[in-house]
Amino acid sequence: MTFTDLNKLKADLEKNFQNFPLVEKPTDIIHGEGNESAAVMLIGEAPGYYESVQRRPFVGRSGQLLRKVLTESGLEESQVYISNIVKVRPPDNRDPLPEEILAFKLYLDAEIEIIKPKLIVTLGRFSMAKFLPEVKVSEVHGRLHKVKWNNRTLFVLPMYHPAAALRATRVKEAFIKDFAKIEKIIAWVETASEGEEFTEIVKEALL
Ligand code: URA
Repeated sequence: MTFTDLNKLKADLEKNFQNFPLVEKPTDIIHGEGNESAAVMLIGEAPGYYESVQRRPFVGRSGQLLRKVLTESGLEESQVYISNIVKVRPPDNRDPLPEEILAFKLYLDAEIEIIKPKLIVTLGRFSMAKFLPEVKVSEVHGRLHKVKWNNRTLFVLPMYHPAAALRATRVKEAFIKDFAKIEKIIAWVETASEGEEFTEIVKEALL
């Protein structure tokens, strides 16, 4: 099925909630939020306790850090859409299982197709692995990647997960530093055409 707007997509997911792992009732589902025509889409892992209570992504401690760093890096709420690879809180906030990621894949893919973001920012290793399966966050964070995905070229910027930033000062410093480059990266991505390769200068400026 092809979806053309987010409200229909969300309604469909809630209507078919019984087909999804971890979901006992439609209100367990925490949808993505933000501007449907956002230039930047951020993809996290899965909601935690506060997200499941407030029914919004990234509103707990790591969400507060993320939203603060986004604002400080000059991004307006209207420029971003925030979502997760798994839309329901896993028990005890454990890592999402491969079958859970797979179950919600169609829905996340449809969100990407509707929003058509210029830039996808992955938060942590699970969402990064969707586009860049062979790498480690510690080696590629803050570096812009050009990937082929569903027959289209996407720009993907892998970042540390904010929860990891809360656990270690060194990671938090890198997280803040990476986000500080994002305006420059968006400006470059917005003017980049499909076939354009990175020039060394752009690369230098972006890395
Ligand atoms: N961590 C995530 O990955 N997503 C959320 O929505 C909240 C915390």
